[in-house]
Amino acid sequence: MTATPALTAPLGLLAELTHRCPLGCPYCSNPIALDQRSSELDTAAWARVFREAAGLGVLQVHLSGGEPAARRDLEDIVKAARDAGLYSNLITSAVGVTTERLQALADAGLDHVQISIQDSDQQSADHIAGYRGATARKRALAAEVVRLGLPLTVNVVVHRANIGRVEAMVDLARGLGAGRVEIAHVQYYGWALKNRAALMPSREQVELAVADVERLREKHHGRIVIDAVVPDYYARFPKPCVGGWGRRSLNVTPAGKVLPCHAAEVIPDLEFWNVREHSLGDIWRSSPAFNAFRGTDWMQEPCRSCALKDKDFGGCRCQAFLIAGDARAADPVCHLSPHHSLVADLAAIREDVPYSYRHS
Ligand code: FES
Repeated sequence: MTATPALTAPLGLLAELTHRCPLGCPYCSNPIALDQRSSELDTAAWARVFREAAGLGVLQVHLSGGEPAARRDLEDIVKAARDAGLYSNLITSAVGVTTERLQALADAGLDHVQISIQDSDQQSADHIAGYRGATARKRALAAEVVRLGLPLTVNVVVHRANIGRVEAMVDLARGLGAGRVEIAHVQYYGWALKNRAALMPSREQVELAVADVERLREKHHGRIVIDAVVPDYYARFPKPCVGGWGRRSLNVTPAGKVLPCHAAEVIPDLEFWNVREHSLGDIWRSSPAFNAFRGTDWMQEPCRSCALKDKDFGGCRCQAFLIAGDARAADPVCHLSPHHSLVADLAAIREDVPYSYRHS
């Protein structure tokens, strides 16, 4: 007998306002084929999406990209989020956000800012970003965020080139006035897959970094929150990717497609609905893509009989497809997966080759 999974309310909406971005980060997880500016949703469409999201129970909207500041109507979009009653978080590279622009965004009701940092070492950071002078702009914007009294999170994507400087990066985040720092190991989706061998750290590096995070959490307890996104390829258990498919969050692409996760388009034959043709509520409840991996009925062994299946939800569907070739398979990161050895094989491929930068 198949049980219909109970529908939970989504809590977060990732609004990918544009794929345009001034940086060229080799670990970009956006898809290889980017949405063009001419296909982007307009302000009114985003305002409607935000109202519908709030009606569904969404509490937070993450204004992301690309670089959201590439949108001239970003202030109106922020105001629309505020009018809908959503807590808004601007996820920015800081490049292209002037002091005046930040003030205007704060006036429009922006609640929180997240700035990405590529490294604590300035030369390395600019090299990773593929943009000379990026670090100076990030520091300047962080100072403005703090001056305006907005909460600040610093996000650092960790990989072979910077993984030995976790402590320095946490110190940098503290120095910038962040209340939270995310140490996020690269997730190999989208463009990042092109650079996997150049980005992949060794197991020893990962183990040291994980230990660093634990030590730094104790050291800085009460002063800064340290979030960590696990380094998948050296794990024994998979992460509960996106909190479970179709359970907690939605992604809306610049062109209006609604995805259960950021990378979902890598899975062939999924049918994604678009906010131009459907309400967000309809999409959440009824779109084929959202229902494809809800609950546990879609699972195969070893997930089907696993005691953890309601905790990790079989891991990441996108990774299962990319590595095992089957989106219904257990995430190969899991040591019980028959494909687990493939993950170790991929992690062993590490090459000091120049990055393939992303230019959008
Ligand atoms: Fe798609 Fe994990 S990134 S389910």
